[in-house]
Amino acid sequence: MTIDIAHIATTANLAPSVHNTQPTRWSLGEDGALWLTADLARQLSVGDVAGRDLRVSLGAALEGTVLALGQQGLCARAVELQGETPAARLEFGGGGVADPLCSQVNRRCTWRRGFVAARTDQTQALDSWSGQHSDITLVADRDEIEAISTLNERTSLAFYRNARYRHELLSWMRLGPSDPNYGVDGLSAPALGLSRIEAFGAGLVLSDPAFSILDTVGLVAPLISEASRTRSAAAVLLFHRPEDENPIDTGRALYRRLLELSALGFQAWPMSVLADDPQTAAELTGRYGLPEQDRLITAWRVGPLPSGAIAKRERLPAGMLVAG
Ligand SMILES: Cc1cc2nc3c(=O)[nH]c(=O)nc-3n(C[C@H](O)[C@H](O)[C@H](O)COP(=O)(O)O)c2cc1C
Repeated sequence: MTIDIAHIATTANLAPSVHNTQPTRWSLGEDGALWLTADLARQLSVGDVAGRDLRVSLGAALEGTVLALGQQGLCARAVELQGETPAARLEFGGGGVADPLCSQVNRRCTWRRGFVAARTDQTQALDSWSGQHSDITLVADRDEIEAISTLNERTSLAFYRNARYRHELLSWMRLGPSDPNYGVDGLSAPALGLSRIEAFGAGLVLSDPAFSILDTVGLVAPLISEASRTRSAAAVLLFHRPEDENPIDTGRALYRRLLELSALGFQAWPMSVLADDPQTAAELTGRYGLPEQDRLITAWRVGPLPSGAIAKRERLPAGMLVAG
């Protein structure tokens, strides 16, 4: 059976990935199976020492692959995760059907520019959807969203104060067209919701020695603040999965949830620092009574997009996604 691997990879690569690193590569094995492997050079050596986010990203791309196969009338007969290595082997065959979530693959995006108010029917649908998923805890109370926002501001600032973390983040920021990787990977100014002048400012604030100087005079916190945009969210969703789950499976579930949200008319803006900082994650776990056997994966601000909003989603060309 032959497949258009470039088409599958390009569609599947629309899945989210940490810092838009797009670490997954697709290849056809001699055994006829489709292999997904991670380009370890794209792992965040500071922000993701253990390679967890890399695996979650690969898992999201794996779910994207299964969806893309279905769209071509193929089904993933067996999916094997390769032990400790960030890779998956996928056997496929005929008889696949398109999952209704395929219609959201082009629509879903990470939205960082602030949301518009959700209609009552949308908030009701969100409420009922959350209730159907044991890995989602919905926080819609305005005071609670404010409390989470405050935690996000505090934790983000603490992360930014780590120069190595900041430099790594900056290295994945594509703040202007002069960056050779602008438009293909990383976090572009438009994707971050920044105008040209704001992008210039962001590059300056996060660089040395400006960061330390501005931080000393208390200017970093207001400059990096996301609070007003966080407040525009209809809700915050805490996404938590079993502690012992393979992160590749976590990534598969994460992508499905985001596509399901998109189908309800909501896009998400993660606050992963809340999960990455153990103390903050423990605080949220206690405060919102998350299951003890679960790990907080991330917290999403969710809401509808302004009408006519266009999200920038930069991706690598197919030639770089298909290996071998
Ligand atoms: C594991 C993981 C963690 C992420 N954490 C954040 C985050 O903390 N803040 C954020 O703005 N986006 C976060 N994202 C979203 C990615 O930056 C986003 O998926 C990527 O830039 C591609 O853009 P798209 O989702 O619009 O396709 C995360 C994505 C993944 C998979």
